[in-house]
Amino acid sequence: MTAAAKITNNGDVNVTSLGKEFRLAKRTKDRLLAAGIDISAGYPYYPDKPKDVSLAGQFRGEAWEHDDPGKRADPEKKALFGAAEKVVKLTPNIGTEIIGLQLSQLTDTQKDELALLVAERTVVFFRDQDITPQGQLELGAYLGRPEIHPSAARVPGLPGVTVISDELARTYGVNIDFQSPFGTQEWHTDLTHEPQPPGYTHLHLDAGPEVGGDTYWASGYTAYDKLSPTLRAVLDPLEGLFRSEHLYPDPENPDGPRKPIITAHPLIRTHPVTGWKSLFVNRRYTVGIKGLKAADSAPLLQQLYDVYEHSLDAQLRWKWTPGTSAIWDNRVSIHSAVYDYGDGGEPRHGTRVSSLAEVPFNSPNGVSRRAALGLDPGKIVEVKKVAGTY
Ligand SMILES: [Fe+2]
Repeated sequence: MTAAAKITNNGDVNVTSLGKEFRLAKRTKDRLLAAGIDISAGYPYYPDKPKDVSLAGQFRGEAWEHDDPGKRADPEKKALFGAAEKVVKLTPNIGTEIIGLQLSQLTDTQKDELALLVAERTVVFFRDQDITPQGQLELGAYLGRPEIHPSAARVPGLPGVTVISDELARTYGVNIDFQSPFGTQEWHTDLTHEPQPPGYTHLHLDAGPEVGGDTYWASGYTAYDKLSPTLRAVLDPLEGLFRSEHLYPDPENPDGPRKPIITAHPLIRTHPVTGWKSLFVNRRYTVGIKGLKAADSAPLLQQLYDVYEHSLDAQLRWKWTPGTSAIWDNRVSIHSAVYDYGDGGEPRHGTRVSSLAEVPFNSPNGVSRRAALGLDPGKIVEVKKVAGTY
């Protein structure tokens, strides 16, 4: 590190609560200070790690009933759309951008309609937002129960607002790298080991490079719609096994290796608001299928990941500009950031509030999104054709 880079008042070098240095954009620091966030004891703040895996598992306390605000919404979303300058569908299957609205100003009726819109379109974007981390937390509390991570970096004084920064990740040895292995983050869904994983998830990116660092999202509804009906029936009763990102000491063997939390959830999930079925797997955190040997589940999971990750009509790629908020439905999607910005530029930084939702379920009344929208279900080709034979 050069002496010049250590001048802290230019916002380039910042110190975490653990005393590690990383780069933080001036734009980010200005946002935090304008919101009255006290960063004098280090930014971000790292809570003390839970001492054992059972403690980490109990962190959420008792189960609760998630009352999804999307259920209260006017299906036509008149209050939300009526106040927007423009509403742009980004692809037929996934993604909408709303122009001319501030998330910080939404009425409760508009928040309900936003929840329904996110449930239907999977991810909704708002550029040029003035929302503070506190405002983000308030909105997140309206949309569900903000997740308070037991050990991840957070905005000081705001449990529930997680800091997303690859510059920060470097301080504990995770590097963004075009070599890793496809130049992207692994496709994933956040916090799927939670007993009640997040539904609406809000990332506000306050700074980032002028070019690079886009994020992809893929629709679990569209992935589900591509599966053969017979395969859907096979998957219907099955549960995937989802591991946590973080490892915790094992209470049975405190000096042994640290362990992840592993939780079972249905592989096919019904959205409580839309009633649509979604494929619920992700390559990063799904580690098996309950009741199947790993050797049996691995090829099946591989096929499901392939459908999800390779179907470009299920996906969109979003180019961020500083001050953009993305709100996505973590129940029915996977996402991945592109690692093409490791060569300099403004440090990418965001604040995330994940609103925990219901215990995942698969309802016998769930329907495919295409069927619900009256779209052609497509053709099933059962036999692989061999050129020149038939
Ligand atoms: Fe993520």
